[in-house]
Amino acid sequence: VALKGVFSPPGDKSISHRLALMSLLASGETKLTNFSPCADVRSSLNAVSLLGSEVRWEAAGKLVIRGAEGRTVPEAAIDCGNSGTTMRLLMGVLAGRTGEFVLDGDESLRKRPMERVAVPLRIMGAEIETHGGKCPITVRGGNLRGIDYELPVASAQLKSAVLLAGIQAQGSTSVKEPVASRDHTERLLNLFGAQVLRPALRVERSSLFLPAGFEVPGDASSAAFFLAAAAIIPGSEVTAEGVLLNPTRTGFLDVLQRMGAILEIQRHEGAAEPYGIVKARFSPELVACRVAAGEIPSLVDEVPILALVATQARGTTVFEGVGELKIKESDRLAAVASQLGQMGANIRTDEDTLFIEGPTPLRSVARLDAFHDHRIAMTLRLASVLADADPQIDGEASVDISYPGFHETLRALSR
Ligand code: S3P
Repeated sequence: VALKGVFSPPGDKSISHRLALMSLLASGETKLTNFSPCADVRSSLNAVSLLGSEVRWEAAGKLVIRGAEGRTVPEAAIDCGNSGTTMRLLMGVLAGRTGEFVLDGDESLRKRPMERVAVPLRIMGAEIETHGGKCPITVRGGNLRGIDYELPVASAQLKSAVLLAGIQAQGSTSVKEPVASRDHTERLLNLFGAQVLRPALRVERSSLFLPAGFEVPGDASSAAFFLAAAAIIPGSEVTAEGVLLNPTRTGFLDVLQRMGAILEIQRHEGAAEPYGIVKARFSPELVACRVAAGEIPSLVDEVPILALVATQARGTTVFEGVGELKIKESDRLAAVASQLGQMGANIRTDEDTLFIEGPTPLRSVARLDAFHDHRIAMTLRLASVLADADPQIDGEASVDISYPGFHETLRALSR
């Protein structure tokens, strides 16, 4: 089957998380539209409701949030579920609040590194205990002082935690990143009335005010799955409408174009974030390319689906500096190599580099494993569409973590 038609991805997960979590420090009420319905963002909404924001769904995608103005409930235990963004950004928010907060998560989140966030927050004056560097975590927040911090890894979650602590600290705080990562926190801080000075990424102690309303652009990372799949599935032509086109998120479009994918992109400037329409068509002449370490943050969540595209491109595609993928919701390098490998792909990993040699036809297998990782599950489902197969994919229900309507959209586009 080919993929044909128009679709609108759900509201962007990264932006939805931030709107929810930043409401803890903000006053006022905001009407949000196209807000993400995904399970990860529900973890953030659950957390902010427990901590003092008021959250009210008016209809699908329509959410009203009244900010907590910093008056957080001082003794709270929070289940962050599968969501690293919820946990890491909350650590930054709560570092500046008085009280004791316990943050925990599911089996996958309990394996992910949290010490990297605890380190700068402790220097700022918060008391943070991790469990061998992982969660459960106890945060005792309080009076913070600003710091100038150089991030050891390009991580938007880490950067955001320091900036959210920074707006609560005495003095100014700046963050230096090895490579620019997604900048939604900076854009939303500016929209909420705190100034983030560039290029130093410097903030002062500030009060936040929720805007009257905000429309969340469609999730670029969700759109990426069907756009990339259309490029490799013969006869396909799909159009994603209302997609976030923030350049710190659209590295996958550049890589697809470099590989020879036929794309049409129309950009609009939005209130705080650019968005637009992206059309992708079956592209029979795909060629391999090299993706440098400096590009990875702009496509970090799209490496699994780009790896699938690379299996259909002529030559060896190389993703450099992808070590962070080993500590996502699953070890994504191992997952992609083993599962696409079972289907006949030629994939090798070496330290923090991923090599894919193509083109290789993908064959149908009876059973695959997504390791409960949403992005692996969607990659394997689309690989199976390409292979004309319908395998059992263990852990496929995890797609709800970022894209609850994935299967419906896949059915609607399948011709
Ligand atoms: C995210 C940042 C990235 C990304 C994750 C969402 C964010 O993680 O992989 O899906 O919303 O800030 P890192 O900060 O660990 O790179």
